[in-house]
Amino acid sequence: MKKVVLAYSGGLDTSCIIPWLKERGYQTIAFIADLGQGDDFGKIKKRALKTGASKVYCLNLQNEFITEYAFPALKAGAVYENKYYLACALSRPIIAKHQVLIAQKENADAVVHGCTGKGNDQVRFEVTARLLNPKLEIIAPVRTWEFKTREDEIDYLKSKGIVLPISKKKPYSIDTNIYGRAIECGILENPWTEPPEDIYAMTVSPQKAPNTPTYMTIDFVKGLPTKINGKTYAPVALIKKLNELGGKNGIGRVDMIENRLVGIKSRETYENPSGTILHTALQDLECLVLDRDTMQHKRALSQKYAELTYNGLWFTPLKAELDAYFDKVHQKTTGTVRLKLIKGNCIVVGRKSPHSRYKEKLATYGKHDVFDQKQSEGFVKLWGMPFQS
Ligand code: ARG
Repeated sequence: MKKVVLAYSGGLDTSCIIPWLKERGYQTIAFIADLGQGDDFGKIKKRALKTGASKVYCLNLQNEFITEYAFPALKAGAVYENKYYLACALSRPIIAKHQVLIAQKENADAVVHGCTGKGNDQVRFEVTARLLNPKLEIIAPVRTWEFKTREDEIDYLKSKGIVLPISKKKPYSIDTNIYGRAIECGILENPWTEPPEDIYAMTVSPQKAPNTPTYMTIDFVKGLPTKINGKTYAPVALIKKLNELGGKNGIGRVDMIENRLVGIKSRETYENPSGTILHTALQDLECLVLDRDTMQHKRALSQKYAELTYNGLWFTPLKAELDAYFDKVHQKTTGTVRLKLIKGNCIVVGRKSPHSRYKEKLATYGKHDVFDQKQSEGFVKLWGMPFQS
């Protein structure tokens, strides 16, 4: 019997994969990645075994996810198509990496995922696995199997004597982790339809959020968030706290038409309270401490970083090189940002840093002004000179 390691979520597709592979002569080890999705992992482990898995791994990867995936993307200012903070895209390479590690430890022949052939996730899983261990075979049953609907899958499980408490109808396809949620499919496929309230789980509606603002400060050290309101938080706790503060103020909802790697446009909705707050705050602090050229130059690289992440190229040389670049950029991004959260808006109202390049005595129009305006006459003349006829 061949041995495989399946990235297992406990949903209907991956639950079907286990007996489906068994029929084809594979023994399946189920791997559950705890990325803070808040599932009942005890229940999911039992489900994996019930459907025929020979063994189950459940790893808490939350800290690694935040420190080695979400934070580097934050430092890079990586936002796909100006809106998506990549919570789902960042989760795939870490899952795939640990899947490969388990496969190596277990001497497995293949890794298996439950992604469809229309999405980005298949690319992220497979490219990662191939880059980390090209010897492993990759199996993607959902792309080729005979089932067309959820009902087909439920009937199939029933025919194997497996009955799961899973509903036939599922209004949306949802991917969740501690850094954000992605909700798609169902009525959301019509881009004219407003997302209904019931798709959201991390954020309240801005309309229902408190009328009085929440003021808060975030401290950064070299581009990494360390404190909220003066109190030090470990990375995972910090993200949870920001999700809570952002969520209750309706921060981080996104509704967008997105370009998938496979060439189709899709309507995506997201909620990412912590990412929205962190990106907003850090970007503002950068404005205070970075010189003009660095700020302008790095913009294109932020976009590149977002594309690499989105397109499954996390474990590539360029991505690692960009990390080194952004580490250098952030040598001086230390300081405090003051924010006001109010009804879906995350507004920076103050910032300070020991490395601030802002010089009040140059900027002021008050009596302490030291800017020598007489010098501007010559400067402006020379500035425009090349274009004069
Ligand atoms: N479109 C997003 C991405 O490619 C989210 C995918 C979410 N997956 C899901 N099963 N809902 O990163």
